[in-house]
Amino acid sequence: MSELEGQIAVVTGASSGIGRAVCCALAQRRAVLSLVARTADALHDTRRAIASEAAAVHEYRADLTNDKDVAALTDALKADWGRVDILVHSAGLFLRGSVEEQPVADLDRLYRINVRAPYLLTQSLLPIMKGQDGGLGQIVFVNSLAGLHARAGLSQYAATKFALRALADSVRQEVRGEGIRVMSVYPGRVATPMQRAVRRMEGGAYEPASYAQPEDIADVLVNALCLPATAEVTDVSVYPFGGHGAESGGPA
Ligand SMILES: NC(=O)c1ccc[n+]([C@@H]2O[C@H](COP(=O)([O-])OP(=O)(O)OC[C@H]3O[C@@H](n4cnc5c(N)ncnc54)[C@H](OP(=O)(O)O)[C@@H]3O)[C@@H](O)[C@H]2O)c1
Repeated sequence: MSELEGQIAVVTGASSGIGRAVCCALAQRRAVLSLVARTADALHDTRRAIASEAAAVHEYRADLTNDKDVAALTDALKADWGRVDILVHSAGLFLRGSVEEQPVADLDRLYRINVRAPYLLTQSLLPIMKGQDGGLGQIVFVNSLAGLHARAGLSQYAATKFALRALADSVRQEVRGEGIRVMSVYPGRVATPMQRAVRRMEGGAYEPASYAQPEDIADVLVNALCLPATAEVTDVSVYPFGGHGAESGGPA
C-alpha cells in the first residue's frame, strides 16, 4: 500500500505542465485527486490520463484570481471530501521585461496569481487541514529558481516568487505545531507550455530535451510528500542536468 493511498490531494495548475505531472504521480500513489484550473477541456484531459490509477478524481473549474471562485472552490472541497491532506500550489504565470519598460499592470497580474491566489487558498483551507484528527497535512508551493536568485528582465516575476517563498516560510512556522508540513520546490527550466512561452519572450528556440521534465519535478515533490512524519523537506531546488538549460537553471 502506498503512503499516500486514499489521501485527499488538491492540485492547482492541474490542467498543464508541472501541476498535471504532479496529478499523475499522485494518482500512481492511489491518492484522491481534486484538479483545479480554468480550462475545462484540459482538466478533462488530465482526468482521463489519471482516472484508472487515482483512488478518485474530481474537477474544479476556478479562476484563482477571483475571490468568489476561491470561496466556491473551498465550499465544494469541504462538501465533497470534508478534509484536505495535501495542497499543491502549481498554478502560475510568467511575464518578463526590464524595470524601465515592463508595465506595472504586468506586476499586478503576476502578483494576483503567483502570490495572492496561493495565499488566499491556503488561508481558506487551513482551518480544515488543521482540524483533522491524526495524520499529516502537507502544503507545497511550486516556486522557481527565480524565487532564490533574481536576474535582469525578471524583476516582476522574481519579486512574486520571492514573496511566495516568504509566504511558505512564514506559514511553515505558523502550522508546524499543528502537524502540517510546508515545502517549497524551486525548479529551473522545465519543458512545459510556460517554458515554451518563456523561450518565445526571450527570442530563443524551445528545446524541451534540454530542460528538466515535468515528471522530474513531480517525482521529487511526491517523494518528499512520502517522507515519514519524523522529518520534513522544507526547500528543494531542481536543476536541469546536461543540455544548455543547465546554465543556472534558466529564469523560470
Ligand atoms: N516551466 C518552467 O520552466 C518553470 C520553472 C520554474 C518554476 N515554474 C513554476 O511552476 C508552476 C507551474 O508552471 P508550468 O510550467 O507547469 O506552467 P503551465 O504549463 O503554463 O501551467 C500553468 C497552470 O496554471 C494554471 N493557471 C494559470 N492562471 C490561472 C488562474 N488565474 N486560475 C487558475 N489556474 C491558473 C493554468 O491553468 P488554466 O490556464 O487552465 O487555468 C495551468 O494549469 C508555476 O508556478 C511556474 O511559475 C515553472
